[in-house]
Amino acid sequence: MFPLWPTAASTISGEVDALYLFLISVTSAVTLAVLCLIVVFIFRYRHSKHPVADQVSGSVPLEITWSLVPLGIFMIFFVWGATIYVAEATPPKDSLQIYVVAKQWMWKIEHEEGQREINTLHVPMNRDVRLTMISQDVIHSFWVPEFRVKADVLPGRYTTLWFRANRPGKYNLFCSEYCGTMHSGMIGKVVVMDPVKFQAWLTGGGEMGSFAATGQKLFQELGCTSCHRFDTQGRGPNLVGVYGKPVLLDDGSTVIADDAYVRESILNPGAQIVAGFKPIMPSFQGIVTEDQLLSLIAYVKSLATPEEQEPVSNRPPVPKTAGGTEVQ
Ligand code: CUA
Repeated sequence: MFPLWPTAASTISGEVDALYLFLISVTSAVTLAVLCLIVVFIFRYRHSKHPVADQVSGSVPLEITWSLVPLGIFMIFFVWGATIYVAEATPPKDSLQIYVVAKQWMWKIEHEEGQREINTLHVPMNRDVRLTMISQDVIHSFWVPEFRVKADVLPGRYTTLWFRANRPGKYNLFCSEYCGTMHSGMIGKVVVMDPVKFQAWLTGGGEMGSFAATGQKLFQELGCTSCHRFDTQGRGPNLVGVYGKPVLLDDGSTVIADDAYVRESILNPGAQIVAGFKPIMPSFQGIVTEDQLLSLIAYVKSLATPEEQEPVSNRPPVPKTAGGTEVQ
């Protein structure tokens, strides 16, 4: 069969296709109608027969009809499109979290269990998958045609994308934003696996520990533990249970401690000071990479889940180099 559409391999594919077909059908019907009228009028009002057409100089019912009918049709486009847009923009709560870092010209994927891959993304079938993505240089765009999902991957800002693959197989991953000489080569594969096989694959490469553990190690190496202690005595806020919760700031305002907040707190600590603390933290701009930032976020996130909480008695030792990272 002629491949008019890519295979539908995610739960949202059918809905996107249906809307697309509807748009094509309506616009084709209108185009066809206009075309037919042109042909009919050419013959009916040709010069030799009717030299002068009757001019209609204003009709209220006519005006109302040709205003309301297109409005109705466009409202269908709008409501239908917006419904799909909102669904695509809202990842379900217990989605599988995967991190994506784009760079010229490759896709780096980090799984929470510690598996890393380049230009290949393994996902389980019939499970909601949420990607948190960022670029370490220019704008890229993550596109999997078979899933009907696409989202720009920007430097300096996290974007998310979610899908639920429902057909096993290998699908193309494209960069769909021109990003330099090798843009066309910035391609990869998404491998949709049986959930059991995926679990086996996931634990197969876990020797390096979970992504959050990588972040924890880095947290200690950078000396963060000297101020962010797991009690109330630290010079920086205790990070246990912070992620996802509202944080009261110095100026009386409140922010939610999400990925973007944690990222900014590391790169530009002076921007949002937590109430009761002094702006003494140094910036880690240029010191930590995007991958490392994501691992630090994964670590802070892991501190928010009660079962993974670091017990106070078991807190990591303060590294010797800790003092060196403080700001004057
Ligand atoms: Cu990355 Cu185009």
